[in-house]
Amino acid sequence: MYPLIRNRRLRTSEAIRSLVRETILTPSDFLVPLFVTEGKGIKDEISSMPNYFRLSLDQLEKEVKELWSMGLGSVLLFVKVPENLKDNKGTEALNAEGLMQRAIKTVKNACPDMLVMTDVALDPYSSYGHDGIVANGQILNDESAELLAEMSVSHAAAGADFVAPSDMMDGRILTIREALEDEGFINTGIMSYSAKYASAFYGPFRDALDSAPVDQIDVPKDKSTYQMDYANRFEAIRETQMDIEEGADIVMVKPGLCYLDIVREIKNEVDVPVAVYQVSGEYAMLKAAAEKGWLDHDAVMIEQLMAMKRAGANIIASYFAKDAVKLM
Ligand code: PBG
Repeated sequence: MYPLIRNRRLRTSEAIRSLVRETILTPSDFLVPLFVTEGKGIKDEISSMPNYFRLSLDQLEKEVKELWSMGLGSVLLFVKVPENLKDNKGTEALNAEGLMQRAIKTVKNACPDMLVMTDVALDPYSSYGHDGIVANGQILNDESAELLAEMSVSHAAAGADFVAPSDMMDGRILTIREALEDEGFINTGIMSYSAKYASAFYGPFRDALDSAPVDQIDVPKDKSTYQMDYANRFEAIRETQMDIEEGADIVMVKPGLCYLDIVREIKNEVDVPVAVYQVSGEYAMLKAAAEKGWLDHDAVMIEQLMAMKRAGANIIASYFAKDAVKLM
């Protein structure tokens, strides 16, 4: 039988394709991760992340103004902490004049309406490169959660709009929420890394911040006792539901591309905004393939970002945000 229904009718021209397109990317979909370092006039390219930089505060100011002018209105801050300031308890994280606290103020001074989110985890501050306190070869849960709550309050006091705990300790969302409420930061939001997998895709990020777990006896060599096993799916739903019950305003799945099944599943399951983090290794992979001439950088980038949105992500944390917006 000759077909009456021809799906190709809806693909005959760009006009009809755009008319029926189900998913659209806009600058407001993006959360831009930024790496901050001490010093002045520093714009240090990260070797495993071509065209991505560690910025000193003066350069950070320039960068956020540029982002703002491009319609990118939300940033996620990470700091590279000098080695001599690291210890097991991440003491420097609570310094009101610490790099993170100064970075928050720098962004708010430069662009008062920019949404500022901050990474909350001990790893950049930890002499062991772990997201919590290390004791007897283990990562302490409750003691770490208490520190993360203090850290969150410190970020809120410096002007952060949202804190983003990326550590995967149990119960930390409630601990953080209660601490923020106690200190009067009732409008400071929490974006929880709810389903964060123990992934090899974080390698370049750990280069950027020099934050990889150290190779030492009595220090766990990886993060698999707190980050999730990538073989698991139901566990992601449980983790996410618990974070919402504990007070998370936004939940996140991380990494991105290999985990879009999880994004869709979570999106179908919960009614808070869902973020996805296209992580450093995903960025590095495409940059490397494009450098070799093996992939069309821009086409593959947009395809991946579109897939994340189609999978159900309301927010995409991505190192490609600027590249992508330039094409829009
Ligand atoms: C720290 C943190 C990591 C990332 C975000 N926050 C690294 C890790 O958990 O080891 C990874 C981001 C990326 O790879 O782009 N808790």
